[in-house]
Amino acid sequence: MATNYKEELVGVLGYPVAENPTCVMQNAAFEALGLQWRYLTIEVKPDALPEAVRGLRALGFQGFNCTIPHKVAVMALLDEVSPDAALIGAVNTVRREGDRFIGENTDGKGFLRGVREAGFEPRGKSIVVLGAGGAARAITVELALAGAANLIVVNRNIARGQALVDHLNARTSSQARFMAWDKTYHVDETVDGVVNATSIGLYPDLDSTPDVDLSAARSDVLVCDVIPNPPDTRLMQTARSRGFKTLNGLSMLVYQGTLGFEMWTGQPAPEAVMKSALEKAFAA
Ligand SMILES: NC(=O)c1ccc[n+]([C@@H]2O[C@H](COP(=O)([O-])OP(=O)(O)OC[C@H]3O[C@@H](n4cnc5c(N)ncnc54)[C@H](OP(=O)(O)O)[C@@H]3O)[C@@H](O)[C@H]2O)c1
Repeated sequence: MATNYKEELVGVLGYPVAENPTCVMQNAAFEALGLQWRYLTIEVKPDALPEAVRGLRALGFQGFNCTIPHKVAVMALLDEVSPDAALIGAVNTVRREGDRFIGENTDGKGFLRGVREAGFEPRGKSIVVLGAGGAARAITVELALAGAANLIVVNRNIARGQALVDHLNARTSSQARFMAWDKTYHVDETVDGVVNATSIGLYPDLDSTPDVDLSAARSDVLVCDVIPNPPDTRLMQTARSRGFKTLNGLSMLVYQGTLGFEMWTGQPAPEAVMKSALEKAFAA
């Protein structure tokens, strides 16, 4: 049989994009499974997005990821957007069905998979989410779709926090409530889970930590961080030292990536390979 040199292409579009680590885990996965696929990290300025997506179609890309600032703008350029990505209002993963590009959002689903693996089932739970940006939006929508009873959105910017809460109350069956974050937020004994969905503590801002007081929290509360780099943020360290169960941001990043891998290739993702490739990259 003749040698096949053709590569199947996927990648991420972002601006800036140089520090996006997803290529490390996707390319490690392709290599581990012996797939002739390649994940490219592509810088696309905002006004070039429509042309870039046309280019990906012409090049036969099997799908792609979108990161800041393209997650919302890309939606108008696709043939279809999944119902939960539409509810979140952002697409981070595009898959191809025939010659149609379909938008999905795997951020919140990756988060959900991580919390369930940590033994936390969101149904009926009361969960505090710090932040109201893109990550918080994906996480709160997926928690609501998974049956969370109460979602408490704590955010510094009042308009943004209130808008997310209004959206959740209008479009999901969870009860959402907004708390302005102008001083220390005290987690009370009714809360089952706390999620930092802000960028506080993200590399290189290693000394920062969300202003939350866990002293009245129940001992069985799960404390989660979305920050993947460093995986062991100050929040994770503090919560762990006080005996709380914790979940760092690496699982969300790995699982949003494994979901993308499976959508694109149709094969089960080599999760351990992907996780260890990312861990090595962050440690370097
Ligand atoms: N693990 C993963 O797979 C994954 C996936 C996606 C994102 N993330 C992480 O999630 C984080 C947030 O990303 P995003 O896309 O949601 O960003 P974003 O849309 O810019 O939102 C940032 C959020 O953080 C809040 N915030 C930032 N600095 C703050 C401060 N000093 N005090 C109080 N609040 C502050 C903002 O509050 P205001 O509204 O008041 O400005 C906003 O709610 C990033 O660190 C990103 O790395 C992780």
